[in-house]
Amino acid sequence: NWTMENFIENAIERIRATVGPTAEAIGAVSGGVDSSVAAKLMREAIGDRFHAIFVDNGLMRKDEAIQVKKALDDGLGINLVVVDAGDEFLTNLKGVTDPEKKRKVIGHTFIHVFERVANQIKPKDGSDVGFLLQGTLYPDVIESISFKGPSQTIKSHHNVGGLIDNMQLKLIEPLRELFKDEVRHLGELLGLPEELVWRHPFPGPGIGIRVLGEVTPKQVQIAREADYIFISEIRKAGLYRQISQAFACLLPVKSVGVMGDQRMYEQVIALRAIETVDFMTADWFVFDAAFLKRVASRIVNEVTGVSRVTYDITSKPPATVEWE
Ligand code: XMP
Repeated sequence: NWTMENFIENAIERIRATVGPTAEAIGAVSGGVDSSVAAKLMREAIGDRFHAIFVDNGLMRKDEAIQVKKALDDGLGINLVVVDAGDEFLTNLKGVTDPEKKRKVIGHTFIHVFERVANQIKPKDGSDVGFLLQGTLYPDVIESISFKGPSQTIKSHHNVGGLIDNMQLKLIEPLRELFKDEVRHLGELLGLPEELVWRHPFPGPGIGIRVLGEVTPKQVQIAREADYIFISEIRKAGLYRQISQAFACLLPVKSVGVMGDQRMYEQVIALRAIETVDFMTADWFVFDAAFLKRVASRIVNEVTGVSRVTYDITSKPPATVEWE
């Protein structure tokens, strides 16, 4: 009979049989639930012969890179390589304002960094790494067969995997029969921290597509601080699990305000929070007025460079979840 406990056992056995007794494997981890669960299965199956690579692109949420490291390395005992590549990403993003171009730059930089690090990982016997882990889920499999999810045709979602095909690695996809809620359940059984199991989805290009227009370190910092306040208040209000995804966007628009007796002329933050089942359609989340008031006031008071806060009340369709 099919249970999650059996699934874990079978998955581990299958991985062992595929990789064999000596070969090694690599895989990218993002801090999301899929790659973390997949990495934990690998760790259970082949121990330190699995090397997880976490590329910190400098575009993640506040403190997230540190949390990912703590959870996977210290917490789950996964053999983890952390690459601090923020400068490389931000340098490559200089002057880039078009959303699709940003995705391409971020995607290519990721592959560059990943390949560079992967090539430094050498099994003890001097052979090449033979396997690449992918956290592909069943819906991804279906989507790539039918190839017509609306978001696929509107925005070029890059998933790490298909792109690294010149590395001659054999793919391991232990989650390819599972849906998201099953992966979360699996994550709980495997002892992943609750926070990681239920984390809102976060796009690969991260804050890079939440800073509208040019992505500079200063702009990233503003968007990140505002986002942190919004998410912290959502958690405090006990709404995190009810909301499917929430974030702050930085609009490169200047707006006049007054702070004390000073006139200010700074940028605008747009908050977005949605409820959805499949992310193909989405409704904006209805907060209490008091909640929004509190968040707006905290952001303009605590984040330098912001003079105004707005809340996005557009459904998908026609608006997409992300602003870019
Ligand atoms: P949209 O904006 O297309 O978003 O309505 C639907 C879901 O996809 C995420 N998203 C991305 N994820 N790379 C990703 O890995 C991307 O380029 C990307 N663009 C959007 C978005 O966060 C939402 O969950």
